[in-house]
This record gives sequence, C-alpha cells and structure tokens, in this order.
Amino acid sequence: ADPRGHNFCAEGPKCGENSECKNWNTKATCECKSGYISVQGDSAYCEDIDECAAKMHYCHANTVCVNLPGLYRCDCVPGYIRVDDFSCTEHDECGSGQHNCDENAICTNTVQGHSCTCKPGYVGNGTICRAEFHHHHHH
Ligand SMILES: *[C@@H]1O[C@H](CO)[C@@H](O)[C@H](O)[C@H]1NC(C)=O
Repeated sequence: ADPRGHNFCAEGPKCGENSECKNWNTKATCECKSGYISVQGDSAYCEDIDECAAKMHYCHANTVCVNLPGLYRCDCVPGYIRVDDFSCTEHDECGSGQHNCDENAICTNTVQGHSCTCKPGYVGNGTICRAEFHHHHHH
C-alpha cells in the first residue's frame, strides 16, 4: 500500500469555497476555514463570522470594528490616529512634539498619551536617557 495513504480529497467530497478538505486514513472531511462557521452543521458550507456583531473582536479605544471576509479590522474613529491594530488615540503627541521624551528616546503614541523608551545604547526612564557607558560609573 502507498505509505502516504490514499488522497480522498482528490476525489471529493467537494468542499465549499470557505471550507477546506482534510484527508484522513479512511475518508475526507470538510472543515471551515479560520473566521468561517458551518451553516446548519455542514462544514462543506461555511459562512463568514461577523466578528463585530458577535463581539468576537478586540477593537477598543477610539475604533470602529469593520467585518471582512474571514476576519475583521479596527478602523480609527475619524480624526484619530493609530496606536496599534486595535486602538487609536486623539492626539499625535509624538508627531506634534507635545512630548517630554529625551532626544535619545523613542516616542510612542498610546491611548492615554505617549510613552518614551530610551534608544538602544541608552539607559534611563525615557524622560532622561544617558549613553550606556555613563551607567557603568555607578557600579
Ligand atoms: C525620570 O527621571 C527623572 C529624574 O529622576 C524624573 O524627573 C522624571 O519624572 C522621570 N520620568 C518618568 C517617566 O518616570
């Protein structure tokens, strides 16, 4: 016998466009693709999950959930700027210079404001960053 087994998927059953064929030892089955759910218990026929309506999403601060085929997106409320895939903020404090980061820090907008992180090679709390070699004098 063929050690790889018989490919039942090659001969059917036919899975719908949102469904994938899985080959087993004795048969083939259909499984819904990620983000899709079976219609009336038949995994050959799957429909898109509306993650937004089902509250199966992680959109938070200042975003609007937008359902897409197989997935969803968090759009910023108009006038807001993106912080990450799931949140947006009202003010671009980093871009507008309204931040207190050290010149050797990286500014990152956050939902509440912004954060400052010292660049590689610098140490400190972000408001004050020193080149790493100064740090060794403290030891
Ligand atoms: C960082 O340290 C300085 C000096 O100790 C302090 O004035 C400043 O408030 C600190 N910033 C943060 C974000 O903790």
